[in-house]
Amino acid sequence: MSTQTQEPTQVIALLKDILLRRGNESYLGEAVTMSEHMLQSAWIAERAGESPSVIVAALLHDVGHYTSEFDEDYLDIGVDNLHEVAGEKILKFWFPPEVCEVVRWHVDAKRYLCAVEPDYFSGLSEASVQSLALQGGPMSKEEVKAFEQNPWLDTIVRVRRYDDGGKVPGRRTPEMKYYLSMVESVLEQYQRGA
Ligand SMILES: [Fe+2]
Repeated sequence: MSTQTQEPTQVIALLKDILLRRGNESYLGEAVTMSEHMLQSAWIAERAGESPSVIVAALLHDVGHYTSEFDEDYLDIGVDNLHEVAGEKILKFWFPPEVCEVVRWHVDAKRYLCAVEPDYFSGLSEASVQSLALQGGPMSKEEVKAFEQNPWLDTIVRVRRYDDGGKVPGRRTPEMKYYLSMVESVLEQYQRGA
């Protein structure tokens, strides 16, 4: 069955299954697991007073790391394997633009902040510094200009900071189930056109 024609409840079930089953995997050289990182990012967003959509974006920003879990019609497998591009492709059928744009641009937001904020780089984790080099390093002036045209720029940058902050070993957060119900209501509201 084509994943694009799945019912919302099936999409929720798929996301739940992935996050609960694979959350204990390590988060790319960081001292936290994938689910700890996702939960901490969402928790920081929530405490900052963000809307449910932005909290969900913070929770799901790295979902593209689980590309093997999704059907090919989501991903055009073989075209690229960048996790932010894959993540947006997975989510764009189901979630509002503020979720998809954050997911799509969270890597470039790091490159952007490195270019425009002198102190930002020194706050990055070691793993994040390493991946920065692979991701193209700080943006050029032209890239900064183009990036600032995105109408979701502020949201993208805010969530990038939640992402950077969500890497503290042992920090307590609400459980995944709590945020999964938020994922469900954001999806359902968007599908209803609310
Ligand atoms: Fe992340």
